[in-house]
Amino acid sequence: MGSERWYENAVIYAIDVKAFQDSNGDGIGDFRGLTDRLDYLDALGVDCLWLLPFYPTPGRDNGYDVRDYYGVDPRLGTLGDFADFVRAAEERGIRVVVDLVVNHTSKEHPWFRAAREDPDSPYRDYYVWSEEVPDPDPSKGSVFPGEAGGDRVWTYDEVADAYYFHRFYDFQPDLDLTNPAVREEIRKIMGFWLQLGVSGFRIDAATLMIQGKRPGVAVPDDPHQILRDLRAHAVSYREDAVLIAEADDEPSELAEYFGDGDEMDLLLNFVLDAYLTLALAEERAAPIEECLDLLPEVPPGGQWANFLRNYDELNVGRLDEADRRTVFERFAPDEDMRIYGRGIRRRLAPILEGDRDRIELAFSLLFSMPGTPLFVYGDEIGMGEDLSLPGREAVRTPMQWSDAPNGGFSTAAPSSLIRPVVDEGEFGYERVNVADQWDDPESLLGFVRRLIGTRKTCPEVGTADPIVLETGAESVFAHRYDADGETVVLVHNLGSEPRSVRIELGEERSPVGLLGDAAVEDRGGTWTVDLPRYDYRWLRAARRSG
Ligand code: GLC
Ligand code: CA
Repeated sequence: MGSERWYENAVIYAIDVKAFQDSNGDGIGDFRGLTDRLDYLDALGVDCLWLLPFYPTPGRDNGYDVRDYYGVDPRLGTLGDFADFVRAAEERGIRVVVDLVVNHTSKEHPWFRAAREDPDSPYRDYYVWSEEVPDPDPSKGSVFPGEAGGDRVWTYDEVADAYYFHRFYDFQPDLDLTNPAVREEIRKIMGFWLQLGVSGFRIDAATLMIQGKRPGVAVPDDPHQILRDLRAHAVSYREDAVLIAEADDEPSELAEYFGDGDEMDLLLNFVLDAYLTLALAEERAAPIEECLDLLPEVPPGGQWANFLRNYDELNVGRLDEADRRTVFERFAPDEDMRIYGRGIRRRLAPILEGDRDRIELAFSLLFSMPGTPLFVYGDEIGMGEDLSLPGREAVRTPMQWSDAPNGGFSTAAPSSLIRPVVDEGEFGYERVNVADQWDDPESLLGFVRRLIGTRKTCPEVGTADPIVLETGAESVFAHRYDADGETVVLVHNLGSEPRSVRIELGEERSPVGLLGDAAVEDRGGTWTVDLPRYDYRWLRAARRSG
């Protein structure tokens, strides 16, 4: 199916299967429900689905605590349902990427059970043990301060009479990725899902996978070899397989994750996420430009996966203190909207106060950034969060399909839903749902469909380097991409005041409108774009004929 670089021009859509569509009325979304909704996803125009973990799990970290890498959570269906789903997606030209969570397992994984019970078990060395609590290393604190495991990364296990290492919750013991047997297990897991038809993996916690875990042995000799191996495994099964890394690392460290085109294909762009958020909060273009300078150059074949929100907290921990405060004050004014001192547990639409102009602006900006755009289920209709749910659960409520009970997600009694549907206020399902927006080109959903369609006609956004254009207006970000003699120009007004900006093309080119309706005047290669408040314009620069 297509070329090996298919992902450069894809639009990725993240789905939590258990919160998407319930097919059998038990209150839990499942694979048959998801399969039934493929026509919707096809019409929306997304062509790559990233499925959050759907494996058997105790479910204490939204499935990121895996008990069995070779199965489907029985509540969500069977392997047969999964295979049917992949096949049905493929028939529509939609690819499927699944989460590979092998930095750690659940405590209930049979490997860990064997490991703790028997010091001589081969599984003992799958994990990282210590007889006593090693010197705490302050750079290696828990990822979730204040949650299960507190700030500890070593937890005592009575059965093993030893401490095991965990960077996340204490019920997620870290695997020892320097152990060849563990690496071999990972190869088989990848092979299994690739043979079932998936197009690749989102590599959970890639940054932590390559950090040293065992006391005394700081880091593996060549930590990135762990990730290069993953890629070698993947392409040995399927040449067009992709690996999308959750590499939330310093900007200066990011280039290495791409390797020489032999490591990760896409990196989730956490840096851009934070700076885009800052730019939207300050209504200034400068943070975007600053961010593009900060990001390393991407080698051929490498790509950013850009996003504004996902199913975790919106992490602005990479911003400096003052900027973080600005973002919090503007986008998470109540303490309860914040989490871990670094993140926002809200969805995009409420963050932008339900203001359609701003939501469209944010989407348009995201889709104009160099790389592959990614968004999470429900953001295309402007869903909100439920702050009464604990922690990150707030942004993981069920998809709102219609104004039927439970938003059409399930026919179960509301009390037996996997999570409550947002049923009140401005973002409740009666006001915000797919059915209402579906046939309405003026709706947010109508806009997102057009945006996806437009992005597909501008492959240069996924392949060329952006060139930032001078506009003289603080609130306006303008940039262009040039590839194969073609040029697209994108202009965004992040501010609440209308702005008229002049753009020099450097040669005579006529503006051809692609998206947005701001007026453009062309005077021999100098364009004047009149942007209303929070508005955008996508233009193709056409050569004059004759
Ligand atoms: C990743 C996931 C997050 C999960 C964690 C532990 O950071 O995005 O949801 O809790 O890994 O697996
Ligand atoms: Ca179900």
